[in-house]
Amino acid sequence: MAIVTITDENRTLQDQEAITGFLAGIGLDYDRWDSSRQIASNAPAQEILAAYSEEIEALKARGGYVTADVIDVNSLTPGLEAMLAKFNREHWHDEDEVRFIIHGRGVFHIHPREGSVVAIEVEAGDLIRVPRDTWHWFNLCETREIRAIRLFQDPAGWAPNYTESGVDAGFEPMCFGASYFPSQSAINQR
Ligand SMILES: [Fe+2]
Repeated sequence: MAIVTITDENRTLQDQEAITGFLAGIGLDYDRWDSSRQIASNAPAQEILAAYSEEIEALKARGGYVTADVIDVNSLTPGLEAMLAKFNREHWHDEDEVRFIIHGRGVFHIHPREGSVVAIEVEAGDLIRVPRDTWHWFNLCETREIRAIRLFQDPAGWAPNYTESGVDAGFEPMCFGASYFPSQSAINQR
């Protein structure tokens, strides 16, 4: 399950219904795909895509996505730092950014045009759609690895446009992970 943190409001959401509702309010889709199916997280990309073909086809039909692939990023990835540096500054795309997490953890920061910056820590089983034109940035968690299905409306058009706002510099990419236990104040905020 994702962990949603709104730092400015001292709020944390860890319940699927609460997360889905909150993210819908700022234009994002969030869902959980059944991760109980018998497919290893390190299976070849084609097997991963085949295992989730039903969900992928449904998303394609709904969002106009034409292709899907599997991205693998870890500490052995050549040019990892340069790759991460492309996405850890506030940017937007002319296409939706759709990710289903197979393995690993990362944090999307979302900067709504109005309202507080929202951090979404994602893990295996999380599906997220960041609509085109949404200001956002992305960091990996400490293990520095993520494997995810990506969907594209036009793979050629998917590139970052930077806001150069500097807003990203004010937010530490905090990862809480499965062991995170909410503080009493966070519980009281709900
Ligand atoms: Fe992005």
